[in-house]
Amino acid sequence: MTSTSVKGAPVRAVGTKHVRVEGRDKVTGKARYAGEVPFAHLAHGWLVLSSAARGRIEAIETEPVLAMPGVLAVLHHGNALRLHTDFVGMLGTRPDPTCAVFQNDKVPHVGWPVALVVAETPEQAREAAEALVVHYEQQPHDVEFTGGDPNAYPVDGHMPAVTDKGDLESELAASAVVIDAEYTTPEEHHHPMEPHAATARWDDGRLELTDSNQGATWVVAELANLFSLDPESVRVRSEHVGGGFGSKGVRAHQVAAVMAATVLQRPVRVVLTRRQMFTLAGHRSPTIQRVRLGADPDGRLRALDHRALSRTSTVYDFVEPSAGVARVMYDADAHHTENQVVRLDVPSPTWMRAPGEAPGSFALEAALDELAEKCGVDPIALRLRNEPEKGPVSGLPFAGRNLRACFEEGARRFGWAERDPRPGVRRDGRWLLGTGTAGASFGAGAAPSTATITAQADGSFTVSIAAADIGTGARTALTLVAADALEVPTGRILVRLGDSAYGPAMIAGGSMGTRSWSWAVMAAAGELRERLVPGMEIPPQGITVRSDTTEAIAALARKERHSFGAQFAEVAVDTATGEVRVRRMLGIFAAGRIVNPLTAKGQFTGGMIWGISMALHEEARRDTVYGGPLGADLAGYHIATHADVPRIEADWVDDPDPEDPVGIKGIGEIGIVGAAAAVANAVWHATGVRHRSLPIRPDRVL
Ligand code: MOS
Repeated sequence: MTSTSVKGAPVRAVGTKHVRVEGRDKVTGKARYAGEVPFAHLAHGWLVLSSAARGRIEAIETEPVLAMPGVLAVLHHGNALRLHTDFVGMLGTRPDPTCAVFQNDKVPHVGWPVALVVAETPEQAREAAEALVVHYEQQPHDVEFTGGDPNAYPVDGHMPAVTDKGDLESELAASAVVIDAEYTTPEEHHHPMEPHAATARWDDGRLELTDSNQGATWVVAELANLFSLDPESVRVRSEHVGGGFGSKGVRAHQVAAVMAATVLQRPVRVVLTRRQMFTLAGHRSPTIQRVRLGADPDGRLRALDHRALSRTSTVYDFVEPSAGVARVMYDADAHHTENQVVRLDVPSPTWMRAPGEAPGSFALEAALDELAEKCGVDPIALRLRNEPEKGPVSGLPFAGRNLRACFEEGARRFGWAERDPRPGVRRDGRWLLGTGTAGASFGAGAAPSTATITAQADGSFTVSIAAADIGTGARTALTLVAADALEVPTGRILVRLGDSAYGPAMIAGGSMGTRSWSWAVMAAAGELRERLVPGMEIPPQGITVRSDTTEAIAALARKERHSFGAQFAEVAVDTATGEVRVRRMLGIFAAGRIVNPLTAKGQFTGGMIWGISMALHEEARRDTVYGGPLGADLAGYHIATHADVPRIEADWVDDPDPEDPVGIKGIGEIGIVGAAAAVANAVWHATGVRHRSLPIRPDRVL
């Protein structure tokens, strides 16, 4: 019999570079994604999406399609199972009715799911789905998003819609310098490399979903509610996930798969095509933002007013809370922020990486740059002059705020001190050169999770947690955390995740995943170490402990908890073509203890690259006549490619959160925050022209 003591020399895995523990499986194809897991008797569903922009379904000609080869069923509003939609889910939100498929004949936008064709093969299902004739009674639609819409209304979302402090108008009137500008950002899309895919099957009265999602616990809860099932009878697995960015919650395809598997009593897989993802996977709403800043001559803010308008569908209130970032970043005597939405005949938007902060930081940080110019104050000095002592709106203390350190370190490494503030004076042949900076912040939270650790007699440990590794490296990060907590080398830790059977856990979202899961792993490891007193042998059957962090997290004091960052960009603007090229970029972050510097760097630079893309390329357009997206594919929707991405560096300052067991804050989303503003500010510095609408396309530059 082998036995092992957990006592040993302390290992410090956290903070050291570690390649992905599942990296080899991923590059050799051994790692299976949701759409690849084989099942016997698998049937394939293909969604049929509305071509009408608004109206109702008059008739669906199912007969000819049912006679096509391999076709097993056509599900639609006339024969669908009834779903239950009156509930508040795990994340405190109501379900988007888009997920509750085929419940009535109404069509609220182009791309609305109207039917699911199920067949023996994906090819048969697709052919039949494309042959299905649906008759619509069309009604007039409106997809045009414009400012000054009288029907706009405030929506809370995950934060209050409005905050108000002091007398804004009189502070503006008393200000020596005032900026009043409108900024716009377009509809943007998140397209994880792995498209959405789900296979549903019933097994002995239990529903099992093999899925690609950001949180198995979340998907279980939504499906159990929708289908009125006991959550204990639902299991969701998502062992490997090829990206999420907010798009992989519960969407129409999973619900359709469950419905079809229930009706047919055999496994059914539904996969979204890239094109379908443009209407069914959510997107970032366009925004129109007005920022008013009032300052003393030295740039100290007397008034900060940030009002953001975003767009939602007619079926679901989703707000892109762009004004939220202004509540955290800078102090002002009077402060007003407001998030409003307007309903149009478009698909429901959803969370997309740094929802609110990404477009909000573009407007706010560009306005700060305009103020710096007008005051004749250096943009970094201006920001540091307005550093708050406590939450500018909440009055709560900050649980760590190292924005100043980010700017100082960033300025030093970027060579900011040598910068000539005058715009439009540096040339390199036909290129005009400029540099810009912007601040960043993103909330740092934790949510209750459970983790189970089993100590095996051979001295190895299995950690089981319903976490999701959506490509962030969560599996590896949790391996490092567990290794340190148990004081063993990482090679003796096996982390199993992506399975709701491991108990409730936070989703991979809100930049809260790794922190929430690590906390649960730390709690379980602590208990295990108490049970394994020094010298005690692990019995042959092993020892298993399970943690629940609900109470520990509830006991956290109310504070302003955020990660911070400073972004720097250098651009070259082609005076002949209007092309903007980013030459280099630097981001310095204060984002808690960094668990795995290797994957953390990838997270930060990935966000920054997305910021370049947001600044210069990304823009989804809607055809006002047909109501749908134009160029709904990755050829028509421009994103930054390798050739657009220059030398890009991300690093961090020491910033452990003393109230977190590992010191983590969260790094998932902050990389994109402020990145587009840094590029836009650099374009102004290069050319002397302010671009307040993204993307900064060549035709806008010329
Ligand atoms: Mo993130 S937008 O919370 O996946």
